Amino acid sequence: MDRRKFIASAGTAAAGTMLISPVSAITVSHTSPKAKKRLGLVGTGVRGIGMFGTDLLRNYSDYVELVGLCDINPGRLGVAGQTIGAGIPTFTSLEEMISKQEPQTLIVTTEDSSHHEVIIKGMEMGCDIITEKPVTIDEVKAQAIIDAERKYGKKVIVTFNYRYPPYRAKIKELIMEGLIGDVRSVDFHWNIHHSHLQQYMMRWHGESNRGGTLWVHKATHHFDMANWLINSEPAQVQAFGTLERFGSKGPFRGKNCRNCAHTAKCPYYWNINDNERLKRLYADNEHYDGYIRDNCVFRHQIDIHEKHSAIVKYANGSYLNYSLTADTDFDGYWIAFNGTKGRLEARVLGYPRKDHTDITFTPVSIFNNKPAKVIRVPFAGGGHWGGDPLMNDKLFKDPGMPDPLGQQAGVRDGVMSILVGVAARRSIAERRPVNIGELTDLTPMLLRPAFI
Ligand SMILES: NC(=O)c1ccc[n+]([C@@H]2O[C@H](COP(=O)([O-])OP(=O)(O)OC[C@H]3O[C@@H](n4cnc5c(N)ncnc54)[C@H](O)[C@@H]3O)[C@@H](O)[C@H]2O)c1
Repeated sequence: MDRRKFIASAGTAAAGTMLISPVSAITVSHTSPKAKKRLGLVGTGVRGIGMFGTDLLRNYSDYVELVGLCDINPGRLGVAGQTIGAGIPTFTSLEEMISKQEPQTLIVTTEDSSHHEVIIKGMEMGCDIITEKPVTIDEVKAQAIIDAERKYGKKVIVTFNYRYPPYRAKIKELIMEGLIGDVRSVDFHWNIHHSHLQQYMMRWHGESNRGGTLWVHKATHHFDMANWLINSEPAQVQAFGTLERFGSKGPFRGKNCRNCAHTAKCPYYWNINDNERLKRLYADNEHYDGYIRDNCVFRHQIDIHEKHSAIVKYANGSYLNYSLTADTDFDGYWIAFNGTKGRLEARVLGYPRKDHTDITFTPVSIFNNKPAKVIRVPFAGGGHWGGDPLMNDKLFKDPGMPDPLGQQAGVRDGVMSILVGVAARRSIAERRPVNIGELTDLTPMLLRPAFI
């Protein structure tokens, strides 16, 4: 289920707010006859619950066993335990969960700014890692993850679900087959609808020290797509970015949305208490840690950009012309690859919406100095254009399945994708082009190394 459907269906699944106490955790037998892989889930917000909690139990329980849930907010953890079901032991301490439940792999779905802590502690305690994007939010934390991976020798997978939708796999396949020759430049323009941006602004995503700005939180997906499809590593970034409507630019502000004095005149008014699921998961548990899900979109702490524009030069000489316009009437994007033998392009909606249910096929047009040829790729079901279930099949059902397109990603790809955003932030602040090589000890390579 994608995030929008998940939010829309909120309130139907959960019941009661009773906590499952860490002390009630039972020791699970480690000698399952099928030797299922033992997994621990860290971070039980909407993504952890929906993508990896309920989905693992529903679709992958023959292959993997979820042996523990961990979150620093005991209230949210309790709701997650009840929503996911199966009496999975819950913990507010990561160390305690790993010691008691001995997961082989941790799934990391915490807030972006804490990924590095969980990834590094997990590896130190002997776990492999499957982490949500962005792998982390800045170059210092990235270097710490790189160092820890070298030190502990564990396997880290970054879940770039954006590589898995069938039409993107088709684009990769066509480029690998040499249909358009060598890719010399890419035009990539992503738009976010106002309502989508509003949700970012209300949450921690609006604060750069928590989400790394949309240059990292959101664009990590886009820069990874570009890196993967160009098949080289980014070398230099020049960028512009600005905040025009939200944060301090707004005309008034309140404590949070649900009880604000300005609701009648605020175009962004949204009452979290109308959504039973989100109320139970977030609003009802604010007193534990002060995590507010419906912050004012005009609060002064917002320091991210709405308009983003960057040129990225790759180690192989290709250019990426990129924009992320996050305050528009459209959710979707347009990507075009200019190659030595032709051009390949695709226009896609960000999320299938009711008024666009006729989008069943995603066309990819190719121009080779001949009439345009349209290739229709069936639209797949499931979250993120069908990418989520395909990625989970590879992760949990059959990790050994062949990966001819190199869709699975590790730390290096995760870091290379965020470093473009980090460099863009620095380029804007310092008004200069920024070299990727100055950020960590990774030197950009002409040919992207494969993740094995
Ligand atoms: N790949 C995708 O398409 C996609 C989509 C949505 C979200 N995400 C990613 O998934 C992650 C979770 O997103 P979300 O929307 O569920 O966020 P969320 O804020 O709703 O949930 C995060 C949870 O992590 C917990 N947490 C924070 N620090 C922790 C720590 N150190 N230890 C344990 N728990 C901790 C919080 O209490 C919270 O319950 C983010 O990294 C986000 O970027 C990826």
